[in-house]
Amino acid sequence: MADERLIVALDFHTADDAKNLVDELGDSVNFYKVGMELFYSVGAGIVEWLKARDKKIFLDLKLHDIPNTVAGGLCSLMNLGADILNVHAAGGFTMMKTAADALHNEAERRGVNCPKLIAITVLTSIGQAEWFGAREIPAQVADFAKLAKDAGLDGVVASPREAKLIRDTCGENFLIVTPGIRPAGVSVDDQSRIATPAAALQNGATHLVIGRPIRAAKNPRDAAQKILTEMQTA
Ligand code: C5P
Repeated sequence: MADERLIVALDFHTADDAKNLVDELGDSVNFYKVGMELFYSVGAGIVEWLKARDKKIFLDLKLHDIPNTVAGGLCSLMNLGADILNVHAAGGFTMMKTAADALHNEAERRGVNCPKLIAITVLTSIGQAEWFGAREIPAQVADFAKLAKDAGLDGVVASPREAKLIRDTCGENFLIVTPGIRPAGVSVDDQSRIATPAAALQNGATHLVIGRPIRAAKNPRDAAQKILTEMQTA
């Protein structure tokens, strides 16, 4: 059974590229992220294709609109059967609560499993110099995480830097999905390197989203295997 704490990002433009990587990784990876690039390019068929292969899916479309619109959008996405959906915490408490309630009610009405709903805290691309909020980024991240939890969400997407603070603020049983992960000794793009797999997990991350270090590797299966081995040391 593959370690489902690893989510491989399928940031491709074509379904063929995405499918080739999934086939190459085979049973070593069970969880995939489908984001804007792939979904906007090839549509829902890729989610159905992954589901037909018993893969789990984090559908990373980052909804951000008024409560009623986000709730409706999420209920439409629920048809696809993804395991995790997400919204921006900056949409506010009412938006998150309306969305979570709508998803739960709709899943109960249909008699299906409810996907997990998680919130983006602060984008990892925003540094303190660019930050528009009145407070420091970590404090804002912790507040967003608490707001998401109080609104009934299952977790957050956050930088591995803030994972420990979120775990301390929100307790156990709260998903912390962290991007910006680079295996020790692998240089893909230093701008994106925030933490190693082991460090992110030690800080409290429940899932690691990793794309380029695997996609860009000569042998993606070996690259994934090295990451999985590194994760075991956490
Ligand atoms: O950089 P990498 O290819 O591993 O990115 C995988 C995913 O993680 C991307 O789809 C992006 O959404 C997210 N990411 C992020 N912050 C970073 C690096 C990546 O949110 N610093």
